[in-house]
Amino acid sequence: MKIVLGVSSGIAIYKAVDLVSRLRKENHKLCVVMTPDATKLVSPVVFSSVGNCPVYSDWMDVKDGWIPHTELSRTADMLLIAPATANTISKIANGIADNLLTLVAMGFSKKAKILVPTMNHRMYVNPIFQENLEKLKKLGWFVVEPEEGYLACGEIGKGRYPENEKIVEAVYLLTTPKKLAGKRVLITAGPTRERIDTVRFITNASSGKMGYALATVAKRMGATVCLVSGPTYLRPPYFVDEFVSVESSEEMFNEVMKRYDEVDIVIMNAAVGDYRPKETFSGKLKKTEKELILHLERTKDILEELGHRKKHQFLVGFAAEIGNFEENALKKLRKKNLDLIILNDARKAFSSERVEVFIYAQEGLVKRIDEDDKIRVAGGILDVISNIAGGSSY
Ligand code: CTP
Repeated sequence: MKIVLGVSSGIAIYKAVDLVSRLRKENHKLCVVMTPDATKLVSPVVFSSVGNCPVYSDWMDVKDGWIPHTELSRTADMLLIAPATANTISKIANGIADNLLTLVAMGFSKKAKILVPTMNHRMYVNPIFQENLEKLKKLGWFVVEPEEGYLACGEIGKGRYPENEKIVEAVYLLTTPKKLAGKRVLITAGPTRERIDTVRFITNASSGKMGYALATVAKRMGATVCLVSGPTYLRPPYFVDEFVSVESSEEMFNEVMKRYDEVDIVIMNAAVGDYRPKETFSGKLKKTEKELILHLERTKDILEELGHRKKHQFLVGFAAEIGNFEENALKKLRKKNLDLIILNDARKAFSSERVEVFIYAQEGLVKRIDEDDKIRVAGGILDVISNIAGGSSY
């Protein structure tokens, strides 16, 4: 992806240097356009070195007939302005093109455009500025909203530069083909915890990474995404429409069933506990010299129940096996009335950043996805789902 990164003179400009580095690592081809004041805050040499890319700031920097504002707006796929000051945003909204960045913006009217507004919180709520920002949103600019927090001026409020990871994700959000447009997808992730007492519980070894990757990529592909997650150490994926945090299998069961009629696709990735203590003690169990016997009872099988109640929904389950792989996976697919089951090796799946999966339908193997990072594997799984379950492309 060819990206023009516009940099205006917000104090958060130092964070844009890290953004350049991240975009470069994601293999985007960059060109940085700085406003004249931005070049007084950080030298163009810094951006050029970190991004291994050209940096322009003067609209008269014409070389051998190569005119920066027309060439950049013609050849790039995306214009991303971070940080975007109130001044730059308001100029663009009002058709003012008095520096190279606003000139490039003028020529970018029909392509992907992202703004990262960053400023003092009183400036941010100024009605004139808000009107300008709204105008640009209506004209197709995607806005990564600033965060609440401590600002450079020492005040606290909304105006902080968001995490660069979120801005990088916004680039994917705007540029991934929308194969799941119009689809409502419910994904479960992580382990469940079944309480023994107030401080102890039985759980599963699941990081939640695969389910979170599926939610991230389903959103990129245009779906409306609800992620129901057991306890994990991960932050909720950026831009998902609904994030529901649960602890026990019972809570997960209730949250999934509540939404079942309204969704088109369910992907049960959670490592749901199959057993829970028959009794949960309140407070903290005191140890004694005697052995402790816990009586466990079966939890409800959420996926099996979804299979029973299935109407229009497309149901996808996971099977983490340690032997008889194909046979066990197909048995689960049939027993739970699934459309697809994703098989992986339980000995590797939980501890690794990377995973290899086999996708089965009633008729047998549909696709093998070789070992890769979980985001790419999620993309492969969702491609198969979108091919079978459909989705309107835009
Ligand atoms: N699942 C569920 N509710 C449960 C248990 C599992 O919805 N109480 C779902 C998981 O999210 C996964 C699939 O069912 O999609 C896994 O199937 P399952 O037969 O439960 O696998 P295991 O729990 O690994 O069971 P087994 O010990 O039989 O291999």
